[in-house]
Amino acid sequence: MVHLGRPTGTPGAPINVPVVLSSTFHQGGAIMYGRDGNPTWEAVEEVIGGLEGGEALLFGSGLAAIAAVMESLPVPGWIVVGGDAYNGTRRLLADVAGRGRLRFRTVDVTDAAATLDACSQMAGGPGRPSGQSGSFGSGGLLWLESPTNPLLDVIDLPALIEGAHLLGLDVVVDNTFCTPLLQRPLDMGADAVVHSATKLLSGHSDVVLGAVASNRPDVVTALAKRRSLHGAIAGPLEAWILLRGIRTLDVRLERSQANAAELARRLAGHPSVERVRFPGLVEHPGHELAGRLMKGFGTMVSFEVKGGAGAAEEVALGVRLMTAGTSLGGVETLIERRGRWEAEEHLPPGLLRLSVGIEAIEDLWADLDQALLGAPAGLL
Ligand SMILES: Cc1ncc(COP(=O)(O)O)c(C=O)c1O
Repeated sequence: MVHLGRPTGTPGAPINVPVVLSSTFHQGGAIMYGRDGNPTWEAVEEVIGGLEGGEALLFGSGLAAIAAVMESLPVPGWIVVGGDAYNGTRRLLADVAGRGRLRFRTVDVTDAAATLDACSQMAGGPGRPSGQSGSFGSGGLLWLESPTNPLLDVIDLPALIEGAHLLGLDVVVDNTFCTPLLQRPLDMGADAVVHSATKLLSGHSDVVLGAVASNRPDVVTALAKRRSLHGAIAGPLEAWILLRGIRTLDVRLERSQANAAELARRLAGHPSVERVRFPGLVEHPGHELAGRLMKGFGTMVSFEVKGGAGAAEEVALGVRLMTAGTSLGGVETLIERRGRWEAEEHLPPGLLRLSVGIEAIEDLWADLDQALLGAPAGLL
């Protein structure tokens, strides 16, 4: 995290890679054109690849990385996806499926048996993929996230990855919520990992970027080709901003996770709160699994307030230190009522999602408490 992606240490050399603003390169080298490669991308790819235990490719956004994976599948592709996966992923799937390019099934991925049953129904049947050709996704794809977004269910990734592989499917894990510091899906057998680097990896809510990592050379080659053909590339300046942000990922995570755990604990005892969803709480159904699979319980806390959607909206708009807004993973705490986006019909009313930042815990709690109690202004 700190030392990869640095120029070689010759005397007088800068310790940071420069922002290489060039659309073309002198011929004869590895990079010829700015849509195929860039030295600033390469530095950040070295860091993400090193952390995930594979080779990484940078994309112009998380969704561009996700779309590149889907576009790399043979047509028609076959995908099994968690019902609580990022809503943008499911909206993209619906869009691509609507154009006949793939078919997908949504499942409750907390139920491993039901998930593998859906995988086996998709794999092997008449007109369905056989997995024989061995190219990426030719036997279908299982798309996973853990913890899920925004319900924060914890998924048994190793069991599902192994089961899906036995059925001939490849497995992609969206690791945005954990980052490789908390969970390394490639070590668990996943074929590829995707990231919205917009979130924790960059950490300051100042860029929109994405990445894919894989330890399968065929997958990396296919995705590099897709990036070059479709052109969903990152700007060199944005890549540099990500590189600067990722250097401090570990310390940001440490503080944000500690804050998240404390807010979850206090929220669980708050009279206005119906239910808290945070894997670090012993009463969370995925607590034991998270303890086994993750190196920490993460920076996200979801909770339901009494009084439903209207009450939740009031809480989100009642904060004064936190920011009411979407996205996650920045140093500043964000709060958002979920269920207000398309493809979120499955969510309970009154659900709020916190992306917990690095502020002082008592400031965060004072703000949340006053918003929950509808306290008069002037507290902070
Ligand atoms: C889990 C997850 N994956 C992917 C994305 C998409 O990333 P981006 O917004 O960088 O395109 C998001 C964005 O919210 C996300 O939360």
